[in-house]
Amino acid sequence: MRYTEEERLKFALEHKAKRPKDIVAKDLITGENVVIGMDGFGYVREPGGSLVKMPHAGNVIIESKVEIGSNVCIDRAVVGSTVIGEGTKIDNLVHIAHGAKIGKNCLIVAGAVIGGSAEIGDNCFIGINASIKNKVKIGNNVTVGMGAVVTKDVPDGVTVVGNPARVFTKP
Ligand SMILES: CC(C)(COP(=O)(O)OP(=O)(O)OC[C@H]1O[C@@H](n2cnc3c(N)ncnc32)[C@H](O)[C@@H]1OP(=O)(O)O)[C@@H](O)C(=O)NCCC(=O)NCCS
Repeated sequence: MRYTEEERLKFALEHKAKRPKDIVAKDLITGENVVIGMDGFGYVREPGGSLVKMPHAGNVIIESKVEIGSNVCIDRAVVGSTVIGEGTKIDNLVHIAHGAKIGKNCLIVAGAVIGGSAEIGDNCFIGINASIKNKVKIGNNVTVGMGAVVTKDVPDGVTVVGNPARVFTKP
């Protein structure tokens, strides 16, 4: 589908978003069934074992030139914002949890799951079906190989693969 800039924004805010007031988006392009700005998956266990939902007072900020495929969920933050940086492109079936911050010009491929409050720098590539643990910080210019399970912070400029993910150097 192709829209004018004005139509894109209108479309994203009025039709794609379940809660348009919780989203700040500019010239967003999305596929079908994109859900942005719902409560994140946050519960607190009480002493008796029951689960109490955490209130989510934050929002989602999507900077300019972002493109999002189909069946993507981007949850709003508990406090502050979930952020998708300028120029980032997100493939189908990606989940971005509450409070995650994605940098500029990243590519996030199908099936990737970005945990809550995880931070990804600029110009990163997150491969097919990679999982990024909540609160992990990934530097700039990082490649996360397909299927990697990133459990610890990753410095700038490296490639990581595997479960748990380790820096990959070609033999
Ligand atoms: C990590 C990656 C960037 C490495 O690419 P590469 O440098 O061309 O590496 P190669 O394909 O030559 O593989 C080198 C070795 O690493 C292994 N390997 C490659 N990718 C791997 C991965 N994601 N996890 C574990 N091992 C991997 C290969 O099996 C090979 O092992 P071997 O030396 O025992 O034969 C790449 O494999 C990858 O994961 N790319 C992302 C794919 C993707 O998401 N594409 C989206 C397209 S829509």
